[in-house]
Amino acid sequence: MGRKVLITQNIPQAGIDLLREKGFTVTIGRTGAAFSGGDLKEYEALLPLLTDKIDEKILQKMPRLKIIANYAVGYNNIDLEAATKRNIAVTNTPGVLTEATADLTWALLMALARLIPQGDRLMREGKYGGWDPMLLLGAEVYGKTLGIIGPGRIGSAVAKRAVGFDMRILYYGRTVNTVLEQETGAERVDFDALLEQADFISLHVPLTGDTRYLIDRPQLLKMKNSAFLINTSRGAVINERALVEALKNGFIAGAGLDVFEREPLLAPGLADLENVVLLPHIGSATVTARTRMAETAAGNIIDFFEGRRPRNLVNQLDLSD
Ligand code: NAP
Ligand code: GLV
Ligand code: GLV
Repeated sequence: MGRKVLITQNIPQAGIDLLREKGFTVTIGRTGAAFSGGDLKEYEALLPLLTDKIDEKILQKMPRLKIIANYAVGYNNIDLEAATKRNIAVTNTPGVLTEATADLTWALLMALARLIPQGDRLMREGKYGGWDPMLLLGAEVYGKTLGIIGPGRIGSAVAKRAVGFDMRILYYGRTVNTVLEQETGAERVDFDALLEQADFISLHVPLTGDTRYLIDRPQLLKMKNSAFLINTSRGAVINERALVEALKNGFIAGAGLDVFEREPLLAPGLADLENVVLLPHIGSATVTARTRMAETAAGNIIDFFEGRRPRNLVNQLDLSD
């Protein structure tokens, strides 16, 4: 029997195969129930999803655990401090889902601006009465101002796509991103200037203590009435109740959301609004990205047990012994 790995729910086979080829004994948990029942004591590696909250309570049940290889780039679902205290390595899957998530961000942006869901619904309902000069008039995207909050991998990939739309690109982040500036002509501005000037604002920060509710009522009020907000980062970067209020009262023109504060639940009233496009957290949902995420997570576990520093280690660990 090889070292035991718990994958909390089924993932693309490529990752599972990599682990089995290396002699690991892989268990795949039942959807949503990986931690209830069963003996967790034997596992030395855990491959959780972003929906699995990995906290002190879980870690106490897993005394032999050495590595948590998250199946996501975001790792706000893991109590990093608790893991580090126990000398457990934590890894993520950066890079391999950047382009897929940037594409989806643009899909939301375009769907919002050009009323794509409304048009599709109208056609299916048999309500298209022929070409009409006043039918489904949306917003222009070309030449407008895009505001990127969180100019990292995905934020930069979203900005690059905006070059083809001749957009003015603003960004807000804690650090200067010279590569982004050189490649796209993006300008770094302060938070309020971005909120006040952008026609489309796209969120790409990780969810941390600093970014929770980064967009709340005062920030929504600073945005233009004609502006759109797109979120493919984490739901709690926006106060969703404040967003519903802003959308109802016309503080902003619309929102495109792939992520929500209390997934899979939506804030009351959100789904009743016409000026939102809602997606079920599918930013990285391409066959290619999800396969590469599985391979990356498995690769991190293999690195670790073969004595290498895992390629995507996110916590500071002493791996010398
Ligand atoms: P990344 O490369 O680490 O980018 C994050 C950016 O946010 C960096 O530029 C970082 O720069 C900046 N940042 C961090 N804290 C900040 C703060 N307090 N204020 C302002 N800027 C801050 O991560 P990524 O790969 O682009 O992924 C971003 C996030 O997208 C992930 O954490 C995840 O939650 C989400 N995501 C969602 C999906 C989906 O399915 N919808 C898919 C993939 C990722 P500094 O640290 O230099 O400030
Ligand atoms: C997806 O949301 C991720 O963080 O990978
Ligand atoms: C629209 O279909 C046009 O030809 O202008």
